[in-house]
Amino acid sequence: MKNAFVKNILCIGAGYVGGPTMAMIAYKCPQYKVTVVDINHERIAQWNSDLLPVYEPGLGEIVGAVRGRNLFFDTDIDRCIKEASIIFVAVNTPTKVFGAGAGMAADLQYWEKTARQIREAAGSPKIVIEKCTIPVKTALAMERILTSKEGSVSFDVISNPEFLAEGTAMRDLEFPDRVLIGSRETAQGIRARREIADIYANWVPKERIIESNIWSSELSKLVANAFLAQRISSINAVSALCEKTDADVQEVARAIGLDSRLGSKFLNASVGFGGSCFKKDILNLVYLCRSYGLNEVADYWESVVKINEYQKDRFVLTMLSAMFNTLAGKKIALFGFAFKADTGDTRETPALYVAKSIVEERAELVITDPQALRNAMADLDGVDNITYEIDPYKAAAGCDAIALMTEWKLYTGLDYERIYASMMKPAFIFDGRNVLDRKRLFEIGFNVFSIGKTPMVHV
Ligand code: NAD
Ligand code: UGA
Repeated sequence: MKNAFVKNILCIGAGYVGGPTMAMIAYKCPQYKVTVVDINHERIAQWNSDLLPVYEPGLGEIVGAVRGRNLFFDTDIDRCIKEASIIFVAVNTPTKVFGAGAGMAADLQYWEKTARQIREAAGSPKIVIEKCTIPVKTALAMERILTSKEGSVSFDVISNPEFLAEGTAMRDLEFPDRVLIGSRETAQGIRARREIADIYANWVPKERIIESNIWSSELSKLVANAFLAQRISSINAVSALCEKTDADVQEVARAIGLDSRLGSKFLNASVGFGGSCFKKDILNLVYLCRSYGLNEVADYWESVVKINEYQKDRFVLTMLSAMFNTLAGKKIALFGFAFKADTGDTRETPALYVAKSIVEERAELVITDPQALRNAMADLDGVDNITYEIDPYKAAAGCDAIALMTEWKLYTGLDYERIYASMMKPAFIFDGRNVLDRKRLFEIGFNVFSIGKTPMVHV
């Protein structure tokens, strides 16, 4: 029987982007059949199970509502390519670790393999959408690969970058600030991008769906991440100055954030930004600028990453100097390991740098996190002197210090009197997110160190 769906949409790559974005499209558009494929069969099996491979508030409910109705997770990539008319590509584009551009450029091997596979399996015209974050001008390479076969069918390459943030992915997908769709400015290109706009128009207000030329769209994604990360590095740079001058970084952030030209978001000073994308996308931008001979522009953006490294280092050095210049033999609890709250993702988490530095100082480490312990164990595989404990009270017991790495709500509501009573004295707390009530902690007896604030130390 021929299926009754009006469109067959495919997404190649079932990760943090592919899974949630397609779940939202399927949820909002019951008239479309949406399939997600991946070379990682275990990941597909997890998407088909009750234990999804991605922790994201609200995701389980939406997948539960549409899986088997119009959302499918599959491993037969060739067949699914053949059957689809619209193909999103959401494979990973990590920083290259080998050869030219190692440590800076985007590694496009997964993306390129996908393009070749689409070309071989297509059989009929397709709209191919860059959902993953790629260097500007990648669409040109994609078009060349797709059309390099004699007698090949026609392909339209569209750029539709994803702006969701982890932890709020479902909200970001349901109520996006904007959806950006770029194409070639030809009649065919514009027709193809309208077709993609029609998908989003099922739930996104029309004025929030914006269209542009394809290069602007590709570049906007890198620039959006660079601007967001730049704000964090700016406020983190200020936090270092606050610590020297008795200014309070949260008071400064509030004062400047009320200027409507600046806005109040993304001004939380922290132990540093993490996540799979900010660093990789900025380095990618830096590499692009250098490859066009724009060295001053490249240096400017590279400084955003340098300040982030400096901030993580400063955090560890503050711990060291506060605790009498030695951590050897001490026991330290890390509260949180995920790169931000409400996700189990630990990619580029500042907690990894802090954990490794603490162990290098020969301290014993206990890591607690409500969602990220599985990833933490994998990240720190082979590193000795670390235990993992889901219960923060047990994690802190017998410790000399707590370092709060992730702003999980759970950590603000704990009974810190009970925790203090169970710790070694003097007890230290290093709040890498400025979320704890520092006055209260100081009254309890802790020596309190926050980001960008004068330390509160019992003499
Ligand atoms: P991810 O690593 O979680 O998922 C990528 C998936 O692609 C993996 O499961 C991998 O097995 C699969 N894959 C790789 N090559 C494949 C191939 N040839 N065929 C089929 N599957 C293949 O990555 P992610 O976090 O979802 O990010 C994907 C892209 O989206 C990246 O470019 C990233 O920069 C961008 N992005 C990510 C986020 C985020 O919050 N994670 C947000 C916006 C944009
Ligand atoms: C970020 C962007 O916000 C998304 O728009 C983008 O789609 C995504 O990258 C991507 O391309 O992957 P994400 O990394 O998931 O999303 O999360 P953010 O909320 O941006 O946080 C990134 C890091 O910055 C986290 O470690 C967070 O704790 C930190 N941060 C954020 C701060 O230290 N201070 C702040 O004020 C805000």
